[in-house]
Amino acid sequence: MVHYHRYIQLRKGVAVATYVDEEDACVHMSGCNKRSKPKLVFFLLFCTFFSSCLILAPHLLPFPTPTLSLLYPSGVDHEDVSDSKINACSSVSNGTICCDRSSIRSDVCVMKGDIRTHSSSFSVFLYGSKDLGAGDEQFQQEKIRPYTRKWEASTMATIDELTLIAKNPNASDNRHKCDVVHDVPAVFFSTGGYTGNVYHEFNDGLIPLYITSQKYNKKVVFVILEYHDWWITKYANILTHLSDYEPIDFSGDKRTHCFSESIVGLRIHDELTVDSSLMEGSKTIKDFRDILDNGYRPRIQGLIQEEERENAQMKNPIKLVGELDKPKLVIISRNGSRAIMNENALVKMASKIGFSVTVLKPQRTSELAKIYRELNSSDVMVGVHGAAMTHFLFMKPGSVFIQVVPLGTTWAAETYYGEPAKKLGLRYIGYEILPRESSLYDEYESNDPVLRDPNSVNDRGWEFTKKIYLDRQKVRLNLARFRKRLVRSYIYTMKKRNEMVRSQ
Ligand SMILES: *[C@@H]1O[C@H](CO)[C@@H](O)[C@H](O)[C@H]1NC(C)=O
Ligand SMILES: *[C@@H]1O[C@H](CO)[C@@H](O)[C@H](O)[C@H]1NC(C)=O
Ligand SMILES: *[C@@H]1O[C@H](CO)[C@@H](O)[C@H](O)[C@H]1NC(C)=O
Ligand SMILES: *[C@@H]1O[C@H](CO)[C@@H](O)[C@H](O)[C@H]1NC(C)=O
Repeated sequence: MVHYHRYIQLRKGVAVATYVDEEDACVHMSGCNKRSKPKLVFFLLFCTFFSSCLILAPHLLPFPTPTLSLLYPSGVDHEDVSDSKINACSSVSNGTICCDRSSIRSDVCVMKGDIRTHSSSFSVFLYGSKDLGAGDEQFQQEKIRPYTRKWEASTMATIDELTLIAKNPNASDNRHKCDVVHDVPAVFFSTGGYTGNVYHEFNDGLIPLYITSQKYNKKVVFVILEYHDWWITKYANILTHLSDYEPIDFSGDKRTHCFSESIVGLRIHDELTVDSSLMEGSKTIKDFRDILDNGYRPRIQGLIQEEERENAQMKNPIKLVGELDKPKLVIISRNGSRAIMNENALVKMASKIGFSVTVLKPQRTSELAKIYRELNSSDVMVGVHGAAMTHFLFMKPGSVFIQVVPLGTTWAAETYYGEPAKKLGLRYIGYEILPRESSLYDEYESNDPVLRDPNSVNDRGWEFTKKIYLDRQKVRLNLARFRKRLVRSYIYTMKKRNEMVRSQ
């Protein structure tokens, strides 16, 4: 279990945090070999970066206050995004390539005209232009790696690069012929990089794909670099709600695909969210969640029918009527580092308060529809900070998300999960543990900076954060203290239910 957490200062005091909880990366080994080496190199490189950040901008380091909006990439991105910038390249004229490289998170190129793929040379050709440089055979060339972690040089180095080439129509003699002509636009993107980790699959994959493609209303073909069959299978339920067409494996499919419009690269707004002010039709993260709901519905209904059939065949069908009426609490359970050591006692306490409690252990092989079903029908989700918190996206707006925040992880917990959860309309409670609730309390003197001043430890460098707080810390909840949050959540849920009943 490796956990990468990096902060890099970019131009104009812009700081971007990079955060990879690797607990379930390298699931699918094909992507791993390629990744592991550059990562190691990057890790070393990063340490250099990091220390220079320290010198250049100590105030940009991950202090645990959510008020540090400077650190928050969104604050940055939005500041200078004017309307024209949002729509940069939206009015690209026929026969030209327009690349918007203004975002620190991703580049996006738009092409219109006679577009033809050429996968063996990792190129996409565009033939013809309005204003030709006379005599030039080739008049524009752009290179792009279609992945949303532009500021992470070493990650990007592992992403396949596409060359977009605009050619003189007079060179039409050597125009390669179309094998498949599509009458809808294409969106090109990569499922390489950190794909394999659920946080990144949503943050750098599905949500940006939604942001970029939803305006086509499913009349769009996805052309995927570093295509993985498992990814297509895992997200089939969602992909069919984003596109009516079979996705294309760019390097595996050697045919020439022809389009009249293409977007290469994905737009991204912020951590696990959709900024409605940047969307056509003012779409929000709730609209993205609706896609999940519609996507998983058929499978969930199938599961329910199956269970009903099985129940009907049993002599003593399971009756849990009372249980069904109780507010439902789900604990997203971790094993190993950042596990809750007294999880059983927590379950007992929550049941006593009145919750029906489920303990979920999402595995990389878990079927997402089943996790969705569980969370979509829950009132409260509890979990310790980590990539699995991404599943807050499966909670209904208006429900409660309690994130247990281990020592030294406050900033990351808020930035990557707390703030995005609020944007989805969840009632978010960040439970910052006290030193005594950390397993580190058993290892360090009570006045050690590790317990007393995690910021100072984080300031010493990423490797300390990782080694001490992420990989070696477990949580032993102070149940009397935690109970208050649960009771509050219980009352909130019951009140909400009563209001719903009254308004009916
Ligand atoms: C765009 O350019 C292509 C190739 O030059 C041409 O075939 C097509 O008709 C043009 N479309 C429009 C709408 O001008
Ligand atoms: C294309 O060919 C036409 C006719 O041969 C010529 O007039 C024109 O200048 C050429 N355009 C370019 C960009 O070479
Ligand atoms: C999720 O929960 C809502 C509200 O209870 C329900 O209407 C919806 O059908 C559920 N979604 C799925 C896919 O089961
Ligand atoms: C939890 O981790 C331990 C040791 O790392 C392992 O033996 C055990 O099988 C794991 N349990 C689950 C449910 O993953």
